[in-house]
Amino acid sequence: MFRIGQKEIDAVAKAIQTKSLFKVNDRLKITETAEAEMREMFQTKHAMLMTSGHAALTSALIGMGIGPGDEVIVPAYTYISSAMAVVAAGAIPIIAEVDETLTISPDDILKKLSKHTKAIIPVHIQGFPCNMDAIRKIAKEHALFVLEDACQADGGAYKGKRLGTLGDAGALSFNYFKIITAGEGGALLTDDKDIFERALIYHDSSAVAYFGDQLKDFSTDLFCGNEYRTNEISSAILRAQLTQLDDILQDLRKNKKYVMDALADVCSFIPSNDILGDCGTTIAFSFDSAEKADRFSKANGIHGVVPINTDKHVYRNWTPILEKKGAFHPLMDPFKMEANRDIVPNYTKDMCPKTLDLLSKAVYVSVDPDWSVTEMDALIRNAKKALESLK
Ligand SMILES: Cc1ncc(COP(=O)(O)O)c(C=O)c1O
Repeated sequence: MFRIGQKEIDAVAKAIQTKSLFKVNDRLKITETAEAEMREMFQTKHAMLMTSGHAALTSALIGMGIGPGDEVIVPAYTYISSAMAVVAAGAIPIIAEVDETLTISPDDILKKLSKHTKAIIPVHIQGFPCNMDAIRKIAKEHALFVLEDACQADGGAYKGKRLGTLGDAGALSFNYFKIITAGEGGALLTDDKDIFERALIYHDSSAVAYFGDQLKDFSTDLFCGNEYRTNEISSAILRAQLTQLDDILQDLRKNKKYVMDALADVCSFIPSNDILGDCGTTIAFSFDSAEKADRFSKANGIHGVVPINTDKHVYRNWTPILEKKGAFHPLMDPFKMEANRDIVPNYTKDMCPKTLDLLSKAVYVSVDPDWSVTEMDALIRNAKKALESLK
């Protein structure tokens, strides 16, 4: 979250005054309006708000018809939620290395393909766009779905197209830690009518048939799913946040560029698949040793984070996945299901050594869209001093 205030307060107050807080209503129709605005902003046929990014990922996988017997390739560096969504759908996550951009490696996707692979989840981690051209090419050649996890990349782009709109479906998150927030929240974006229909039913299965005409023109029969429905208060906050998204991104990118330009001659940065579409939330320094990265991150005035230390973002810390505890009830556990008997991998903590190496040699410095030039100049001075001391 970066900017939140009176606009959101007024929007919530207005929503409360209507006393119509259910998402389907005949008063302000805030959720309906927010979804229309998202379709326009993201240029997709469908945009569905729900309670979280995880809900959007899981609903999208269900919408793709993915389930037991299927493998889904996820990067070794992503929040555990990306892999858990695969398990929630009954399928098995296959973990692939990231490359120098710290996003999923197309070369390793090719190595991890099998006859059971059904989808790839590229994750635009820290707002860094994945190599979508290469990923889409692989998906096309092997008839796979692409589900973009853009939960850390709200509004970002790849070659001029918004992240989350380059595959068969995309998921955004609006939890507190994201570029824009609704407190909690998520969105599913897709052009695919079947994915949309199934995801709509799955994410709100107990109410979707009973409120409004949400199932009008549907060709999918009702089935039992989950309950990830949003509400008018969250949607009110989100509408206010959406109006600020492009300004936030513009300022993040401007500030990131200012600092990177000033340091370009004295250090290296993690390469980008599209620096113009990058969300700008993170300046990612690259070092030739883990020891230098660690020292730089702790240097005076840097406040850096070495991504290997970001706990559940690194596959070796995905305890329930590595231990294959896919559900509380054993018969509901994809890791124990008969349909998955031949495809459950032997996960080990060192199975993606390249990812571990790359993550231990990078340092993140978080960007603030509201930094002053004085603050950025101080960071640049501190970084130069810290880099000098590493020599
Ligand atoms: C990469 C990634 N995917 C998925 C999620 C899940 O989003 P949410 O917390 O809204 O369920 C997150 C959230 O932190 C995330 O960072």
